[in-house]
Amino acid sequence: MTAQPTVVPAEPRAARFPTNQDLDPVRLRQAFGVFPSGVVAVAAVVDGRPVGLAASSFTSVSLDPPLVSFSVARTSKTWPDLRRADHLGVTVLADHHGEACRRLAGPVESRFDGIAVSVTSAGAVTVDDGLARFDCTVHREVEAGDHLVVLLQLHAVDHSGDLADGSSPLVFHRSGFGRLR
Ligand SMILES: Cc1cc2nc3c(=O)[nH]c(=O)nc-3n(C[C@H](O)[C@H](O)[C@H](O)COP(=O)(O)O)c2cc1C
Repeated sequence: MTAQPTVVPAEPRAARFPTNQDLDPVRLRQAFGVFPSGVVAVAAVVDGRPVGLAASSFTSVSLDPPLVSFSVARTSKTWPDLRRADHLGVTVLADHHGEACRRLAGPVESRFDGIAVSVTSAGAVTVDDGLARFDCTVHREVEAGDHLVVLLQLHAVDHSGDLADGSSPLVFHRSGFGRLR
């Protein structure tokens, strides 16, 4: 039997957070912004027109059943419409989608101007040339402070992005866009 190396745990240092800290939204936003994320477009045709928004809060949740989530501000004017869609499209944006992302977060009337999209027969809208596309329905909405955590059930997936073909995701970090090197 081979001897296992002994791991001596380092003595933990006492953590010292600033006292009486005001967790104001500006400070929190800056701290949250340290965490890099990708960006998705969540979109669908509702009442005959495309509606959607950009979201950096997307994350994978479950393989069985297949679930993903994103958080939407309770002040969102788009979500009450979007949630009525039969199916929603979620697109993982690529590094060349910076301008499209800004537009998808901008004025509602011009949100899809100049953005190439595809629509399924059930009304899910996806952005062309994304790294991955998901066809979803709303599984559950969970109230979480000033946001709703939206759990989406996946019905179809198309994963075209591959590092080998040079595809790279749009990265949101410290309120700006970047790319993976
Ligand atoms: C990079 C980026 C990421 C964003 N992520 C989110 C998000 O995760 N959740 C959210 O509610 N809004 C997010 N937004 C803002 C929305 O895209 C949109 O501007 C906001 O919902 C206001 O529009 P609405 O009132 O039409 O919903 C993000 C915007 C940008 C530019």
